[in-house]
Amino acid sequence: MNQSSKPLSDAETKPLPSLDVWEDDLLERYPEPGTIAKGKTTEEYRNYESPGRDSVREFYRLNHTYQTYAFVQEKKAEFLSFGRKEMSVWDAFEFLNQLVDDSDPDTDLDQFQHLLQTSEAIRADGHPDWMVLAGLFHDMGKVLCLFGEPQWAVVGDTFPVGCAWSDKIVYPEFFAANPDVSVPRYQTRYGVYSHGCGLRNVDLSWGHDEYVYHMLKDYLPEPALYMLRYHSFYSQHREEAYDHLLDDHDREMFKWVRLFNPYDLYSKNPVPPDWNALRPYYEDLVARYLPEKIKF
Ligand SMILES: [Fe+2]
Ligand SMILES: [Fe+2]
Repeated sequence: MNQSSKPLSDAETKPLPSLDVWEDDLLERYPEPGTIAKGKTTEEYRNYESPGRDSVREFYRLNHTYQTYAFVQEKKAEFLSFGRKEMSVWDAFEFLNQLVDDSDPDTDLDQFQHLLQTSEAIRADGHPDWMVLAGLFHDMGKVLCLFGEPQWAVVGDTFPVGCAWSDKIVYPEFFAANPDVSVPRYQTRYGVYSHGCGLRNVDLSWGHDEYVYHMLKDYLPEPALYMLRYHSFYSQHREEAYDHLLDDHDREMFKWVRLFNPYDLYSKNPVPPDWNALRPYYEDLVARYLPEKIKF
């Protein structure tokens, strides 16, 4: 059985009050840069007193139930031909901002402000301009929600499909309901992959990372592409649970993914950046790397 065989209810499409609730939860799991949650059990996460907790739990239940190997292939075929829309970068940010948080409209920053805070924090630390650009674009793939995709197929920690799930993935018990549980080939340590085969040969659960990576893969240097593609792969970049699938090149590139992660998680600030002052810098940056229009 897969997700497309029956229509999803609203509750199944949008278990979270907003996409930001997933990221707020990440901050509770990884309260500090460099925290590796080794030894921290799912039981402990579950005991947090947090208003978003039940919806986060339900979100992961759906994510872990429906993200099968076949589902990922389906979504790649559906979205990676980029035939939906063509927009200028600035129109694309406006489009992305249609994703509003109806639960708490006054306190949350819009998507563009999160992107700008991420990119500004990277710029303030003097990193290369293509890393600033990766910061600016890393969540652009969340437009998938505006194309009608359920939240659990857009955000959430990503993980390899087609091989055994690590118990370092948050809420691993929910994988028991994933139909891949009854495919013996997918249930071994290496599954359809082989030792050190390299992440370019590994399918991760479908979401905004993979989508934005393909959107921009012809325009940014490789370290930036790794940041885009793997920024939600917490079970590797924080927990190192899939070392056996990485090759040496991935290991080298994951230094960049780990460098990027704190800017994503810890740059949120209630004061919105002054876009008018920043605009000339970003217009120049975007024009230097990206084409006039981006395909969705
Ligand atoms: Fe993201
Ligand atoms: Fe982000």
